[in-house]
Amino acid sequence: MILLWNDTFISEDELRISKDDRGYHFGDGVYEVIKVYGASMFTAEEHIDRLYESADKIKLIIPYTKDVLQKMLYDLVETNNVIDGHIYLQITRGVVPRQHYFPSEGIEPMLLAYTKEAERPLNQFEAGVKAKFVEDVRWLRCDIKSLNLLGNVLAKQEAHEEGCYEAILHRGEKVTEGSSSNIFGIKGGVLYTHPADNFILNGITRRVILQCCKEIGIPVIEEAFTREQTLAMDELFLSSTTSEITPIIEVEGNRIGSGARGQWTEKLQESFEKKLP
Ligand code: PDD
Repeated sequence: MILLWNDTFISEDELRISKDDRGYHFGDGVYEVIKVYGASMFTAEEHIDRLYESADKIKLIIPYTKDVLQKMLYDLVETNNVIDGHIYLQITRGVVPRQHYFPSEGIEPMLLAYTKEAERPLNQFEAGVKAKFVEDVRWLRCDIKSLNLLGNVLAKQEAHEEGCYEAILHRGEKVTEGSSSNIFGIKGGVLYTHPADNFILNGITRRVILQCCKEIGIPVIEEAFTREQTLAMDELFLSSTTSEITPIIEVEGNRIGSGARGQWTEKLQESFEKKLP
């Protein structure tokens, strides 16, 4: 497999990561996951825009134009002959002896991107998954797609240990998002989801779903709902680049709606599917 390392294509054994990389010391960097369908990247521009926004929010300047980066990713997909899978891309602040503050000059960001061949989890899109509530103890800038994922990792682990696919995070009673996804509820034909503020990552899949809602005519209310309201939803689902639209059929032993994928979720999946390359 070929990797993209800064602006060069290398083989895996040529990769050299410094002990002083700030990504390694502090998780000081940002990342993206971009899905590839039939050898084409999906919503690549939106992902690249968000990468630059995340970088800007942590005062990291990416030393390429968006067009150059997109072209390099395109070449990476082609070189690795990826048909269905995704690109993982991260950029760290760079290499400097460990100190918490970062130098304002003389530090080069370190970009690494690789591809992964992966089949779409079609069974899961139909059968749905189980989830568990976990208190959201992350920081207050969840809008940044930061490499610092310890809060997310621990929440996912807690869910995983109980046989659940996802942790539904909540601050107090209010549901924010999943540990690696956005969360949506449908009640009386209306779709509810947390607003895109600093408490959640504004998912690219989330944005596509809101567009699908517009096209289908599903009213959307971008307002946080409570844990109690979550359990009373007719339908519940999560979204992410890799999980697309995945129904949540059970939360901590409570069946959601009929306990199977709901009709609106299925309609949204169909509408989403039509947008894929
Ligand atoms: N995770 N919220 C969080 C905390 C996430 O980590 C993700 C994605 C999302 C959904 O964003 P998008 O639709 O743009 O993928 C929401 C990626 C897939 C990951 O970390 O692997």
